[in-house]
Order: sequence, then structure tokens, then C-alpha cells
Amino acid sequence: MVSTVAIFNGPNLNLLGTRETEIYGRDSLADIESECASVADGLDLEIDFRQSNDEGKLVGWIQEMCAAGLILNAGAYTHTSVAILDALRANPVPVVEVHLSNIHQRESFRRRSYVSLAARGVICGFGPHGYTLALNAMAKLLHARKAP
Ligand code: DQA
Repeated sequence: MVSTVAIFNGPNLNLLGTRETEIYGRDSLADIESECASVADGLDLEIDFRQSNDEGKLVGWIQEMCAAGLILNAGAYTHTSVAILDALRANPVPVVEVHLSNIHQRESFRRRSYVSLAARGVICGFGPHGYTLALNAMAKLLHARKAP
């Protein structure tokens, strides 16, 4: 059976392609979604790709998620949201945290990540490619779980 991986994106990521392009590049979120869909296909995975600017909506999606794993770029909520951390802790699926930029090279407030406290691993600084790296990491994690 094909596993589904949820890929949830937080605030302002809908603006990718036009927002601070010197940091985030020129790919739109739709470009990233289609690249993820094609990589997922090769890994025998399905994706459920979403974006919201609303913290409560992200918490609800994490609570109700039926996927085998979650790739999460929580945007600025990464650095502020105990609510998202609590939702992640309430759901046992593996989480891979993604950021387009290298958050450790930027303002000091971006170095703290609540998401990291619940994530199996973190990929940051590789731009849109980070999402497909995360899909490969997730495929390995899910495969290891299935192995007898
Ligand atoms: C981001 C990094 C966050 O600090 C920022 O608030 C974002 C995007 C990234 O993908 O690099 O919105 O998550």
C-alpha cells in the first residue's frame, strides 16, 4: 500500500517566488509542490501538500492528520508556537522539519525552533531542494519502520 506524507507549510510561504527572493529564491510554492509530487512518485509515496497562514488551522491539520509522516515548514511559527509543538507531540508520526533558508545564519530569534523539539531531523539552507531531501529522508524512515 502506498503511504501518504503530509507536507504542511506555515505563514507567508504562499508568497514564495516574490517574497524576499534574495533569501527564499524565485520558486513558487506551487513549483515546490510539483517537484515534491514527482519525487514522491519515484519513492512510491503520495503527498498531501498544504499551506496556511493560520496557526490554529495548522494545529487542527496536525491533530487530524492521517499521513504516515509529516514534513513541516512552519515558517515564523517555528520560533514561537508552543501550540504547534504540543500538537506534534500528540501525534506519533515522524516529523522532518524543513526551512528554505539556513535559520542558524540569520537573526538570533530564528535559531530557536519549537518544531525541532518534536522533529526526527532538520533540513535547512538548501532552498526548495530541502523539501525533496526531506522526502528522501522520510522514505528511509518509513521503510525502516516497515522492515520486520
Ligand atoms: C523559513 C524560516 C523562518 O524563520 C521564516 O519565518 C519563514 C521561512 C524558511 O523556510 O527558511 O517564514 O521557515
